[in-house]
Amino acid sequence: MKKIIWLVGASTGIGAALVRELAQDAERLYISARSADKLSALAEQFSNVNILPFDVTDRAGRHAAIAEIEQQSGRLDTLVLNAGTCEYVDLEQGDTDLGLYQRVLDTNFHGPVALTHEALHLLRRSDAGCIVGISSSVIFTPLPRSQAYGSSKAAFTYWLSTMAIDLRGEGISVVIVSPGFVDTPLTQLNDFKMPFLLSPENAAQRIRDGINRGKTHLHFPKRFTLLLLLEGLLPLRWQHALNSKLSRNKTKHT
Ligand SMILES: NC(=O)c1ccc[n+]([C@@H]2O[C@H](COP(=O)([O-])OP(=O)(O)OC[C@H]3O[C@@H](n4cnc5c(N)ncnc54)[C@H](OP(=O)(O)O)[C@@H]3O)[C@@H](O)[C@H]2O)c1
Repeated sequence: MKKIIWLVGASTGIGAALVRELAQDAERLYISARSADKLSALAEQFSNVNILPFDVTDRAGRHAAIAEIEQQSGRLDTLVLNAGTCEYVDLEQGDTDLGLYQRVLDTNFHGPVALTHEALHLLRRSDAGCIVGISSSVIFTPLPRSQAYGSSKAAFTYWLSTMAIDLRGEGISVVIVSPGFVDTPLTQLNDFKMPFLLSPENAAQRIRDGINRGKTHLHFPKRFTLLLLLEGLLPLRWQHALNSKLSRNKTKHT
């Protein structure tokens, strides 16, 4: 049966590639992000895609989008939480702008969490509700400069797992997605070598396939994520020693 799907964070990168994938399974696919122009350009290519532009950190915007889906479709089968941002903490650059933590946590954690709670009544009307959270493999072992991004994704992953436990009895499933590096506007800002970089199309195909096969946790590409998972099994002292070799902050600041 075709589904009512809502993809939040659909304008670029993995999200834009997911539009093409998820449209195939959708009776109606709602796509959201802040950039209305990019969403419109994507939606024009499909007959079953509607745009709902808003900022995931804005309560009024979230509520307006949920009201629109409720009015048009009456239920939600799959909610895909893909909106995300990344800012690195550079201790060698002097004082850290603490607003950075707020921005990253608001977009990657507080916004998607609030949205899910606010939309839960629509997922409860589905026969097989599903929440898909795009987290990150960054949390498998502590990586340099990822204090804010990694914390946001660790919190998001824990929250998704607890939602999985508490919603299981209601028949609502949760899929956690932990990608390695994917070539998107977010990672195109990185000034370091990204191993095993995937295309957004490749990542989107894997995500759709995982959702349709009823997976609980997807991580890819395995040749990268298994290495990180294995490293995460080492004593923390060893992980810190290994990963500090990647740190740029080598000298004592006064
Ligand atoms: N690329 C990777 O290597 C990688 C690896 C692991 C996990 N991820 C995760 O994958 C997800 C997608 O990232 P991406 O790499 O495809 O990056 P991207 O191209 O920058 O996409 C981010 C998406 O989130 C939307 N977004 C950002 N802030 C938003 C806000 N406040 N409200 C609503 N939408 C917002 C953006 O649209 P607007 O700017 O138009 O709002 C865009 O559609 C993120 O959660 C990211 O953390 C990416």
